Amino acid sequence: MFDQIDKIRKNAKELVKDATGSAQLEEIRVRYLGRKGEVTAILRSLKDLSLEEKRKVGPAAQQLQKELRDLIEKKSADLKADGEVYELDVTKPGKRIETGHLHPLSKLEEEIRNIFLSLNFSVVEGPEVESEHYNFDALNIPEGHPARDMWDTFWLKEPGNSKLRNKSSRLLLRTHTSPMQIRYMEKHNPPFQIIVPGRVFRYEASDATHEINFHQIEGLMVGKDISLANFKFVIETFLKKLFGPDIEFRYRPSYFPFVEPGLEVDMRMTAKGGKTGWLEIMGAGMVHPKVFDAVKYDPREWKGFAFGMGLERLAMLKYKIPDVRLFYSGDTRFIGQF
Ligand code: PHE
Repeated sequence: MFDQIDKIRKNAKELVKDATGSAQLEEIRVRYLGRKGEVTAILRSLKDLSLEEKRKVGPAAQQLQKELRDLIEKKSADLKADGEVYELDVTKPGKRIETGHLHPLSKLEEEIRNIFLSLNFSVVEGPEVESEHYNFDALNIPEGHPARDMWDTFWLKEPGNSKLRNKSSRLLLRTHTSPMQIRYMEKHNPPFQIIVPGRVFRYEASDATHEINFHQIEGLMVGKDISLANFKFVIETFLKKLFGPDIEFRYRPSYFPFVEPGLEVDMRMTAKGGKTGWLEIMGAGMVHPKVFDAVKYDPREWKGFAFGMGLERLAMLKYKIPDVRLFYSGDTRFIGQF
């Protein structure tokens, strides 16, 4: 019996010493001191011993029980003090690590760039401060043209802007990305196909679908026998890659001075409560001969289509965002969802 007590003491001490967590310590306690524990068993068996044996073994067994209890208690306190750094509970839920991420508009722009790159388009960029020439005149919107009213313009206060210096060199914040059509064609020969993502500005009241500052992605494809059929193929492929095969969109005749014929593309959107409506996502058309004249391309030799789509509008549709002003609100509850 004494041998057994010594053996238990030795084993238990070793186990307690090596324990690395409270769960493990609890197992040890149950093994020795629990209802069916080894020490408990010895104490229970005392009743079968002779009186003389009981007097010897009893105190030794009780001593062991007390010793182990103290030992386990002390170890438990030590582990808590160490913060139980070693304990690994694989059933605990993971901790979410916060990282920074891109703005939803940046993400979408990246996605759109990649789709057009896969269609063999190149990506180019241009200045946000433009001259009247590139933003208007060269696009067949001379001063006094009624269509200039389509773009409420921020003019820059710049020495000479108000004077009659050279009218078409007056500076403004570009109202669309179309001036890059001119800049690109001045420097490159057809055939080519490009997109131009960028920030644009309009001096108008903001509401749920309008902002004074937003983004467009211009597209321009010029070649020997480009037609509207090419435009429709490119746009349909693009929209289906971005939104999936089940989207609904439509073409509507429209007017822009730098295209003929001109059209607009609308996409079906479902508002809260299941009401559906059409949201205009881009203007487009076949490049106007006067635009080719402005960049010294022969309009009888070259044909092209152009489009300009609103990035925020596409983002609203893709992420089901009801108000364009949320993008610039700086509200982390909104931004954090992407
Ligand atoms: N630039 C036009 C706008 O901002 C859109 C457009 C681009 C229309 C290209 C036709 C061709 O309204």
